[in-house]
Amino acid sequence: QHLSINQYLRDHIRTVPDWPTPGVQFRDITPLLQDAKVFRVLIDAFVHRYMDPTMRPDVVAGLDARGFILGAVVAYELNIGFVPIRKKGKLPFTTVEETYELEYGSATVELHTDAVKKGDRVLLIDDLIATGGTMMAGKKLLERLGAHVMEGAAIVDLPELGGSDKLREAGLPLFTLVDFA
Ligand code: PRP
Ligand code: ADE
Repeated sequence: QHLSINQYLRDHIRTVPDWPTPGVQFRDITPLLQDAKVFRVLIDAFVHRYMDPTMRPDVVAGLDARGFILGAVVAYELNIGFVPIRKKGKLPFTTVEETYELEYGSATVELHTDAVKKGDRVLLIDDLIATGGTMMAGKKLLERLGAHVMEGAAIVDLPELGGSDKLREAGLPLFTLVDFA
């Protein structure tokens, strides 16, 4: 029986109701990482897309914290560098910062001022797009340093929260593998 990569990955995402707050259906990607075969299928889906010479970035930027897991492995496989966009207060060097709202609360993220160069083509990676606030903040930070965010990539999109539409309207192409209504 043939199973699409998307369905295969969906089958390895765990939904935890009412976490971290009542009403949130938390889409937990840890089972995807835990199984070596599934982890490889997941990473290869991204690597295959960005290996193409027309799609190849100069650098991968990963969003704190689950975007680090994916982003670092994808960057390594593409033989390009990885830069972390971190929650406020963690990066030691000079930074730019951006504050935004998310599905449950608000947050500030930072990026080292020397993380990217003007004109760099950056692939921005996270595990999931909900309201899009996190990815939008990352895009703004990278653009403030003169980089071009060529695409945003995530495992999961929650389209009903409107984030992916908002990001596309802001001019960011997106590549996601699994939608949850
Ligand atoms: C989650 C997720 C994304 C973000 C998506 O991270 O990993 O980064 O929320 O939501 P948004 O599209 O509404 O911005 P979270 O803030 O829970 O932090 P964590 O990765 O440190 O657990
Ligand atoms: N980040 C924001 N909303 C989320 C959700 N429903 N599941 C997992 N991570 C999230």
